[in-house]
Amino acid sequence: MHNPKLKVIVADLSESRIDAWRSDALPIYEPGLQDIVTDIRHDENETPSKESRQSNLHFTTNVKDAINESDIIFICVNTPTKMKGSGAGSAPNMRYLESAVLAIAENATSDKIIVEKSTVPVRTADSIRTLLDANARPGLKFDILSNPEFLAEGTAVRDLLYPDRVLIGSESSPSGATAALTLENLYAAWVPRERIIHTSLWSSELAKLASNALLAQRISSINSLSAICEATGANVQEIAHIAGLDQRIGAKMLKSSVGFGGSCFHKDVLNLCYLAESLHLPEVAEYWHGILKINSWQRERFARRIIHKLNNTLTGKTIAVLGFAYKKDTGDTRESPAISVVQTLLSEGAYVNIYDPQVTPAKIYEEVAMPAYHDHIRISANVYEAATGAHALAILTEWDEFCSGDAPTEKRHSVDSGFASNVATPATKSPASSRSVSPSSQKSSEDGKARMDWAEVATLMKRPMYVFDGRNVVDPAKLQGMGFSVESIGQAL
Ligand code: UGA
Repeated sequence: MHNPKLKVIVADLSESRIDAWRSDALPIYEPGLQDIVTDIRHDENETPSKESRQSNLHFTTNVKDAINESDIIFICVNTPTKMKGSGAGSAPNMRYLESAVLAIAENATSDKIIVEKSTVPVRTADSIRTLLDANARPGLKFDILSNPEFLAEGTAVRDLLYPDRVLIGSESSPSGATAALTLENLYAAWVPRERIIHTSLWSSELAKLASNALLAQRISSINSLSAICEATGANVQEIAHIAGLDQRIGAKMLKSSVGFGGSCFHKDVLNLCYLAESLHLPEVAEYWHGILKINSWQRERFARRIIHKLNNTLTGKTIAVLGFAYKKDTGDTRESPAISVVQTLLSEGAYVNIYDPQVTPAKIYEEVAMPAYHDHIRISANVYEAATGAHALAILTEWDEFCSGDAPTEKRHSVDSGFASNVATPATKSPASSRSVSPSSQKSSEDGKARMDWAEVATLMKRPMYVFDGRNVVDPAKLQGMGFSVESIGQAL
């Protein structure tokens, strides 16, 4: 992918963010990312000896110069859900995108290809065209392409290097086709051309929302079935496995959980609902709203199950929350199911010991946003500290270290990028890893990940010992054999 002739400029208004990108402490945790932005030089013994930024990768806050120097501009700004005004709570907030387009219009002195990388509503390219026509220098040519991002956090590098597909939407004109080919040639440096798909701008814009909505729908579907399993004695993992063997259904995105989180699914399904409502399609909007309704209900159901099992009173009891990120291998907490579960536990009077290997204490307090309960939250440095004196453990993120070893969990693929020779793992990068965990208290599993020692945890907890597994990462039979009472999603034990 490294092409010395190609200059890549990452421009952002935030000085602190650009400083972080320039430093060795990148602003986000993502396995393999450090290697993408770093050129590992080897000495004559082929051992990595010196790290430096890739010579063609630049970070700057000088947006004006970055625009002028570039032939292709990717707009990668946030499009969060609007919090006030018309469409508040469901429409995307387009102000960052508008200001990026205005910056291009005001500063461009040559023709540009503008690529929508951000997730945007359908027909955003129309609004971009209108803004450019009204504000750019006359005589300049702008081609607008849609090139949605399909990577998932935690596997972003792998998804970038080995994408299922790259989608390019363009205007149906000779100039649009040429611009689309220019972008295709960029990707063709590492993506097989048959995986690069060309469509109209509108299909491309809608395909991104549709893909995320369909993925979210699968999770809500399996989660709705998990409730039936708990009531009937069926096992949701068996149901997902059996259904997934049908090739028309497929096995992926059918892991029942405490609910989906992240910055995308919730926001994109809301956007789809908003779009349907604006198009006077209330039945369609209602259908997709149902996906979000099941997701909130699944979180509430999980929290209620903890309360119910602990004799309907949490006052003065301690719950150890293992994992706060919305999924493993990321420090991202946006829309994490842990937020509402912790809020419910606190409002029931519980003390909550929270451990996550990648989420900072400040972020946890900010997300929980219940200052009156701060003295009921204790941030733990590791699993054992969190478990000490706890009446129950609640697993809310599927970090590998929480697995009991034999539980069925998705096999991790290594990030074999050609650059990724020192992929950081939670164990090596974790803020907790520097804290006092005795090596004897951790076990190494087949995949080399440190696993928590459940036998040691059993010596630290109050009796009876409850485990509420919101990610189905522990083997209930094994833990029951060690004296734990296990409550898994979609299983009545
Ligand atoms: C999602 C999509 O998977 C990406 O294709 C898309 O590019 C991205 O949104 C985006 O729009 O930027 P992401 O949110 O990073 O990616 O992560 P996912 O792996 O999709 O997981 C989302 C949530 O669903 C997590 O909370 C995860 O724990 C949960 N999940 C996932 C389940 O509960 N069950 C599953 O089977 C899979």
